[in-house]
Order: sequence, then structure tokens, then C-alpha cells
Amino acid sequence: MPDLKGRENWASRLGFILAAAGSAVGLGNIWRFPFVVGTNGGAVFVLIYLVIVIFIGYPLMVTETVVGRAGKRNPVGAFQALAPNSPWWLAGALGVFTGFLILSYYSVVGGWSLAYVIKALTGEFTTDADFVALFTGHISLTIAPIIWHAVFMVLTVAIIAGGVVKGIQRWVQFLWPVMAVLIVILIIRALTLEGSGAGIAFLFRPDFSEITARTFLDAIAQSFFTLSLGMGVFITYGSYLSDRDNVPSSAATVVGLDTGIAILAGLVIFPAVFAFGFEPGAGAGLAFITLPAVFAEMPVGTLFGTSFFLLLSLAALTSAISLLEVVASWLIDEKGWTRKSASAVLGAVIFVVGIPASLGFSAFSGFAIPGIGDLFDTYDWIANSILLPLGGLLTAVFAGYVWKAKSARAEANKDHMGMKIGEWYGPALRYVVPLAIILVMAFGIIDTFV
Ligand code: PFF
Repeated sequence: MPDLKGRENWASRLGFILAAAGSAVGLGNIWRFPFVVGTNGGAVFVLIYLVIVIFIGYPLMVTETVVGRAGKRNPVGAFQALAPNSPWWLAGALGVFTGFLILSYYSVVGGWSLAYVIKALTGEFTTDADFVALFTGHISLTIAPIIWHAVFMVLTVAIIAGGVVKGIQRWVQFLWPVMAVLIVILIIRALTLEGSGAGIAFLFRPDFSEITARTFLDAIAQSFFTLSLGMGVFITYGSYLSDRDNVPSSAATVVGLDTGIAILAGLVIFPAVFAFGFEPGAGAGLAFITLPAVFAEMPVGTLFGTSFFLLLSLAALTSAISLLEVVASWLIDEKGWTRKSASAVLGAVIFVVGIPASLGFSAFSGFAIPGIGDLFDTYDWIANSILLPLGGLLTAVFAGYVWKAKSARAEANKDHMGMKIGEWYGPALRYVVPLAIILVMAFGIIDTFV
């Protein structure tokens, strides 16, 4: 076992919260949430999603964090530390693999977002532009999106190479206030648009006839993705947490911030979509097609457009660093790599793995899996509908039965002051969370293919 005495700790409790919320809030909130809400019938999806976030997401976040803090290592090492000489380390390995896979295509979308900052800034959002053509034109290029994917990956590597405090914490502390200002500007703009009421109704007035088993699978996939659960981000970030920090309240803050920002993003996008007569079920292009069209119609749209894509890019960056940190911490702890070489080499390999996801819109656009979609959707489906819920399931079963719910709860309630997680946590971890994940996965998968 490598010497872990020199392990860094967050410089303050706020460091963990900002980094964890930075991981949670990302493309999942601003880009993915509105489009899955749009393709799943609106408010009814939001409702199911909220229930899953509270009853599955929150207890799992606490669990991952305490597994990390007690194990004091990356996901593979943390499982090994808590259950030596057992195959449970494989659950951690699955997380590391999932992080690797998600980052590869996440960075492709991060790249689109960076490209759109420049498009907005240089005045490409004009009233006579064809925004469908602008977006499909961009992603169906062979080289340009790959270059932007590379730029995004270089930024991610640069932050992770800096370390936990001087890299991650320093950057999230700087980026959060910038993101907060951008969000406030955008929300005021969207809610003052004429005709925004229909968008608000779409988000908040459920139509129960829209529910299918797939709705639940999409909701569980979305909640794991948006909360960064099921792949060891919270194990890794929790491993840099000191025993004095209060886990139940930090996790509650992160869940609250993440959910709040997803709803706010919906409140930015849907009023605009309905006010300008667009289709809410437009899919992955929603934020990239609809919003630029809206910005083009606005006075000082260049400012709002640039602000939006800057927000999207920064939010993506603070999530991407957490994905890379999981994989990098494994190489650093387990294989003795230096932080700089781990982040650089991984960045390069993950960049290459992401290239086919990008080419799915150009050179490989003929590829399609029935029920799932193109290459990009395939990466997304495997990672979010299968690997993340599976990772969450294994973590819950491990903490509930092997490490024991009592130990997990004691670890969570270790500090003397502050919020405590109640008795309900044990049964939630042992029965509710695993059962819900198994049912949702089973029915959702059947629904996808049959
Ligand atoms: N939570 C991030 C988002 O909503 O964009 C994405 C993500 C980051 C997923 C880290 C998973 C993860 F481990």
C-alpha cells in the first residue's frame, strides 16, 4: 500500500461543498436536465426526478462521502480499506472506469459549449441565422469539434495537475461567484419574456398519462448523473474531508444547490422555448439551438448569449475536473504516479476515447442502436442508464450489508455538532435504495428494447 500520509485535505469545509457542488452542477443541469424534461413530458418527469433525488440521491451521496472519508483513498482503495481481501474493490474499479467513459464524451459537449462562447461573442446569433443548421453544422464537422474537445480537456488537466487545494479548491472558489452572477442575469431575462407562462406550466403542471417505465429509468439516470453519483466522485472528494466536517449537512447543501440550479435552468430555457414557439422535445440540441435563437431576438443578445455559454462551459469544467480527479487519484494512490503525469496521461487517453462520440455526428453518423440511438447516445446510455445506477447499487449494498449501515451512519454522524442523519438512513440504504434501483433498471431496460 503506498504511503498516504501526505494526503491533502480541503482547506476549509466550504472547499468540499464548493468542489462537490461544482461537480454536481454541470452540463447535467443546464443542458441535459431541460432536454430530458422536454422529451419526457415535462412536469411529471420533474416530480419523479425530485422524489428520486430526495429518497435515493441524498442517502447515496452521504454514503459515498463517508466511504471516502473512512477509507481515505480513491474508490478502489477505499473499498479495499473497508473490506480487505474481498472482491469489493471491483465496485470502486467500476466507478473509475465509468468516470473515464463519462469524461470522454462530456468533454465533447464541453467543447461544443466553448465553441458557442466564441460564436455568441463574434455575433453569429443574428435574427436571420438558421440555428438548427448552425448547430448540426458545427457538430457534424470532423475536425473543429475535436479541437474544441481537446481545448476543454487541456483546461481540465491543467486544474487537476494543480492539486486538491491549489487546483480544484482554488478554481471552484473563483468560478462559483462568476457562475452565480451569470445565472441571476439569465433568469431575470427569461422570466421577463412575454409568453413565459406556458414554459412555467410545462415544467410544473404534471400530465400523468405521460408516465412509462422508461420515464423512471430516465429519471434515475438523470438524478445519478446530475448529482455525480454512482462512480466515486463523492468517495474521492470525501477522502479529502476531515473528521470534523459535517457530512449530512454538506450533502444536503449540495443536493439543494444542484436541484435548485436544474430547476432554474428549466426556468431559463422553457419560458424562452414557449415564448418563441419552439418544440420542447428537441433533444440534445435544445440548449444549443433554441437558446441562441432566443438570444438573437433580444436586445443585447450578444451579452446574454455569451453569458449563457460561458456559464455552461464553466459549469462543465467544474464537473469535468471531478471526473478526472477520480481516475487520477486511483493512479496516484494505487500506482504511485505523480499528480502531474497522472492527469496529463489520462487527459490524453480520455481525449482519444471521446473522439468516436464526436465522430458519431460526422464520419460515423450511420451508426445506430435501435432503442438507444447514435454513437454519442450509446456512450450516454451505457454510462448513465447502466453504469451509474449499477455503481450506486453496489455502493448501497456494500455500505448497508458489508461495512454495515450502522458504521456508515456512525461515520456520517461523527462530529459532535451540526446536522445528524436519522434512523431512517439504515433501512433506506439496505432496502429502499437497492430495490428501487433494481426495479427501475430492470423495467427501464425492458422498455428501452421491447
Ligand atoms: N454532475 C455532472 C453534471 O450534472 O453535469 C456530471 C457528472 C460529473 C457526472 C461527475 C458524473 C460524475 F461523476
